[in-house]
Amino acid sequence: MTVITEIEDLRRIYKRRVPKMFYDYAETGSWTQQTFRENTTDFAKIRLRQRIAKDMAGRSTRCRMLGEEWAMPVALAPVGLCGMQHADGEIKAARAAEKFGVPFTLSTMSICSIEDVAEHTEKPFWFQVYTLKDDDFMRRLIARAKDAKCSAIVITVDLQVMGQRHKDLKNGLSAPPKPTPAAILDVMTKWRWALGMAQTKRRFFGNIVGHAKGVSNAASLSSWTAEAFDQSLDWERIKELRDMWDGPVILKGILDAEDAKQALNVGADAIVVSNHGGRQLDGALSSIRALPSIMDAVGDKMEVHFDSGIRSGQDVLKARALGATGTMIGRAFVYGLGAMGEEGVTKALEVIHKELDTSMALCGKRDINDVDRDILLVPEDFE
Ligand code: FNR
Repeated sequence: MTVITEIEDLRRIYKRRVPKMFYDYAETGSWTQQTFRENTTDFAKIRLRQRIAKDMAGRSTRCRMLGEEWAMPVALAPVGLCGMQHADGEIKAARAAEKFGVPFTLSTMSICSIEDVAEHTEKPFWFQVYTLKDDDFMRRLIARAKDAKCSAIVITVDLQVMGQRHKDLKNGLSAPPKPTPAAILDVMTKWRWALGMAQTKRRFFGNIVGHAKGVSNAASLSSWTAEAFDQSLDWERIKELRDMWDGPVILKGILDAEDAKQALNVGADAIVVSNHGGRQLDGALSSIRALPSIMDAVGDKMEVHFDSGIRSGQDVLKARALGATGTMIGRAFVYGLGAMGEEGVTKALEVIHKELDTSMALCGKRDINDVDRDILLVPEDFE
C-alpha cells in the first residue's frame, strides 16, 4: 500500500488504474509539449525566501475569491471527460471540493450533466462554457446552469481552434472507448475502473447529448463537436456572452496583458491566466512566466486567477505571491480522481493544503492574505 505524500504518488497510481487512452488524454500537452513542460519547470526557477524567528502559531490559508470565503486559494479547474477517469467522476470531484471548501468547476464537456452534479452536491459550483457557434444552445446551457444555482460562469476563451495532441490521435481517443483488441486488453488489466464503469448509471456527455440540436449518440456528438466551436469569436461576442449571465463571469485562457485589458473592458469580473495546461499553443509562454505582466496591467482592477503547471502547494504559494487571487488545479486533481475517486481528490487537496501551509510558514507568513512578492526570488527574465 503506497503512502501518499505528494501529487506524484497519485499520478503513479492513476497511471496503473485508468486505461492508457484516458491517462494519455490528461497527461499530454500539444505538439512538442514544450509549453506543457515549461509550465512546471518554470515554477522551479522561482525560489522562496526562507525566514526565521517569526510567530507561526495560528496560521490560516483561508481567503476570498469572487466574494466568497474558501479554505485556500485553489479551485478545481474544468476538465472534460472526468467521468471517463472514474465512474461518476464529476460528481466525485465536486463532492470532494465541497467537503474541502474549495470551488469545483464543471466542464461543458463533462460526462455527468449540470443537473447530475447539482443533485449530488449542496453548495453551488462554477460552470465552464466554451464559446460555441450555436447561440440557442449556449443560452440553454447558461439557463441550465442558472437553474442548477451555479454561482459563477467560467468562459473559456482559448479554444476557438484546438491544439493537437499526438497521442490522442494515435490512441483513437473516444468516449466510450473504441473496442480495439489493444483497448480491450488494456481495460481488462484496469479491473477497478471497468467495474466502476459497469456499475454506474449511464451518463454520456450529459451537458450535450440530448440537449444540443440533433445530438443523440456518439456519432452525432462527434460531428457536432467538430462543428461546434466558434472560430469567429471576437470581443463583441465575448461581451454578449458576458451579458447572458447576471452573476460573476471569469474569462479563462488569457496569456497576454493586452487581452487582459480587453477582458476588463468587456466587464469580466475575473480572468484566469492560463495556457490550458499546455494543451493549446505549443511554444507559448508558460503560464507562471505570463503572470507578472498581466498583474501589472490589470491586477489592481480585477481578480486575476492562475492555472497551468500547479503540482504542489509551493506552486500555489508562488502564484499567490505573484498576485494571483486564486489558482486552479487540473491534472493534480485528475490524478487523484483516477487513482481513488472522491477519496483521491480529497487526498490531492490535502497534500496541496499541507504543502501550502507549511511552506507559507517557512517563508515567515502565517496568513495567506499577507503573502506578497517579498517572499519570492524571481529570475529577471520573468518580468
Ligand atoms: C483540460 N482543460 C479544460 N479547460 C476547459 O476550460 N474546459 C475543459 O473541458 C477542459 N478539459 C481539460 C481536460 C484535461 C484532461 C485537462 C488536463 C485539462 C484545461 C484545465 O481547465 C486547466 O486549464 C489545466 O488543466 C491547468 O493545467 P494543469 O493544472 O493541468 O497543469
